[in-house]
Amino acid sequence: MKVLHVVGARPNFMKTAPIMREMDRRGGFQQWLVHTGQHYDDGMSRVFFDELGLPRPDEDLGVGSDSHTRQTAEIMLRFEPVLRARKPDWVVVVGDVNSTMACALVAAKEGTRLAHVEAGLRSFDRAMPEELNRLVTDTLADLLLTPSADADENLRRAGIPESRIRRVGNVMIDTLCANLEKARARPILRQLGLLPRSFVYVTLHRPNNVDEREPLAGIMASLTSVARKVPIVFAVHPRTRKKLDEFGLLPAAETGAVRLLEPLGYHDSIALTDAAACVLTDSGGLQEETTYLGVPCLTLRPNTERPITIAEGTNRLTTIPRVEVELSRRLHEDRSQRPPPELWDGHAAERIVDAVTRGR
Ligand code: UD1
Repeated sequence: MKVLHVVGARPNFMKTAPIMREMDRRGGFQQWLVHTGQHYDDGMSRVFFDELGLPRPDEDLGVGSDSHTRQTAEIMLRFEPVLRARKPDWVVVVGDVNSTMACALVAAKEGTRLAHVEAGLRSFDRAMPEELNRLVTDTLADLLLTPSADADENLRRAGIPESRIRRVGNVMIDTLCANLEKARARPILRQLGLLPRSFVYVTLHRPNNVDEREPLAGIMASLTSVARKVPIVFAVHPRTRKKLDEFGLLPAAETGAVRLLEPLGYHDSIALTDAAACVLTDSGGLQEETTYLGVPCLTLRPNTERPITIAEGTNRLTTIPRVEVELSRRLHEDRSQRPPPELWDGHAAERIVDAVTRGR
């Protein structure tokens, strides 16, 4: 069976790696990896290939950054000839980034079977580009591989035939399980002078939080205030750094007590997540990783497409005016001992490969 995998942005790499590895292990698959180049900095891309053992991409489309429309269009233009030349039996896309939707559209137009990993998630907030990407990709996919029961339900309600939906669990947790020991062996805590359970780990990059001056300044003021009581480390996404710089917030941030870091590799990010007293984020992946690890998580967003991390996990939504008080409160919470959600068990890739092999 010929399978073409698509990755483009940072959160894709940890989802595709276990699937490719499982196909390799079973044999009988000819696999190609296409990197759209949506993320291109070493710290946003190459480091993950090295750490997760992803093969070098067979094709690098090199699209880079642009407006959403232009970036999506450019990926489609560059992906079409690749798909025509390789003629795979399946295209496998993961997650909800622009690369996911762009390549899903091309696969559907070319009549190539399409599997979507992490299907069915919904924030019901169409102001988020990811929500549009999820809606389009799920509508087009022949096989919708979901992480949780709420996702199945969203797809049923959207009229997707039951025969296309397979609950396989959370494949990102496969990568977490496989890498936790390596992450815990990293020297990053020592290098940063941090003690376990005594610091806050922050990542923020959503346009809502960082693209305008007022919200970003509000967030930085709250963090500076909390940082007087407890160390805060903030791994700064390139988009966020650019905005801090543009709004003149960088000098204050750099001299304040909040420790600004470059984007981290996978192992260092998991090491900090695992050891943090609390995580403050707007990422999708960190909501899930903290739930699995039982670490208190505050998500700075009005909604989440991953409600199971609230219902069964450690995640809570918050707002900018509440960040300071909520962080101060949750710092003292014990690590949760609840079991992870069903099928977040490190074996999702096996179920994904079973489903793709059967075609249903
Ligand atoms: C993208 C995804 C988002 C995901 C995030 C993870 C979409 C719509 N958004 O958001 O769902 O949570 O990735 O990181 O697909 N930049 C660099 N170097 C890079 C990549 C980006 O400097 O390697 C800068 C550029 O200024 C770019 C900006 O970051 O314009 C935004 O990049 P983009 O890929 O458009 O979106 P993200 O915010 O990274």
